[in-house]
Amino acid sequence: MAPTLPSSLDRSAYLLAARGERPPHTPVWFMRQAGRALPEYRKVREGVSMLESLTRPDLVVEITLQPVRRYGVDAAIFYSDIVAPLKSAGFDIDIKPGVGPVVADPIRDAEGVGRVRPVTPADVPYTTEAVQQLVSELGGTPLIGFAGAPFTVASYLVEGGPSKDFAKTKAMMHGNPELWHALADRLADVAIAYLAVQVEAGASAIQLFDSWAGGLSPRDYERFVLPHTARVFEAIKQYDVPRVHFGVNTGELLGLMSAAGADVVGVDWRVPLDEAVRRIGTPKPVQGNLDPALLFAGWDAIEPEIDRILAEGKAAPGHIFNLGHGVPPDADPDVLRRITQYVHSAHVPA
Ligand code: CP3
Repeated sequence: MAPTLPSSLDRSAYLLAARGERPPHTPVWFMRQAGRALPEYRKVREGVSMLESLTRPDLVVEITLQPVRRYGVDAAIFYSDIVAPLKSAGFDIDIKPGVGPVVADPIRDAEGVGRVRPVTPADVPYTTEAVQQLVSELGGTPLIGFAGAPFTVASYLVEGGPSKDFAKTKAMMHGNPELWHALADRLADVAIAYLAVQVEAGASAIQLFDSWAGGLSPRDYERFVLPHTARVFEAIKQYDVPRVHFGVNTGELLGLMSAAGADVVGVDWRVPLDEAVRRIGTPKPVQGNLDPALLFAGWDAIEPEIDRILAEGKAAPGHIFNLGHGVPPDADPDVLRRITQYVHSAHVPA
């Protein structure tokens, strides 16, 4: 079981909303809030590769705290990456600046699947150390641990890098379902192991990113992805922390992604939150969903969008305000700070 929470953390706006209770203000955080939009991030990352930075608790703690200080958000997200646990367990993968995860020898057969193994706490002592230090520094602000869901991580391993159509991944699913299921099964173990390390070290919620699941039909999602994702959520249930699930372009999948075992469903900007609540079917808190493109539209355009999202979010038993996807690297930090302040002070029409 997760350790008993101190009451300021337990009553934090983020955790209250994630449990479907109404906090005094709507909590806000931003996916990919740590990173290149912040000059202080670019400064501490100078001369250190992304994957190397993750093995240095001093850098991980500093980078995780930067957006909390700068924006005043209601949660921190652990600075890591969806491919970090693979790397830590010895898989040959890199993160190319401006591109994303790349694999020189993509997985195409059973030998490739055999190269994937879950991390053990002994592989990632620096992760445990960084989480423990963060939890102590954050006090009443929750730390969100995260992992990549089997499909999204598999897409990088099978394609060899970012993809638009996931052609090779889909070819594996349909052409060699046994191989696909073996790979997804291992990746579920990777996600479970990495989430467990973070929660056992003190993270008070988890988010499972299936960012690219929206590339699948509901039929394929249900057959090839849902059972593996459901196993991840089921394994984490014992820790009694809110489990959030998110993907981009998942309007057709919201009901299934919720059914996979999420306590909170993340929604991108394409589906209004009240409509998302209908599609989810069972009353659950939602997270989202300002279009990141709006960050560049000027405050007069942003404010009415926030009002609309807050009003639509009332259809759910809890609402965590966020963007519909990650913070773009060229976003203006002042705009993100203003959004946080505005959401905190907003009086939402009933
Ligand atoms: O505040 C945070 O959210 C930081 C933690 C975080 C990172 N990656 C740090 C990172 C999280 C939650 C992720 C998850 C992640 N990584 C996802 C799921 C979320 C999403 O955006 O949909 C995905 C698909 C990845 C894969 C990945 N890693 C991409 C697409 C990129 C960007 C490549 C680029 O340079 O444009 C990365 C690298 C990465 N992960 C960076 C950061 C801060 C940039 C690395 C750098 O600064 O050099």
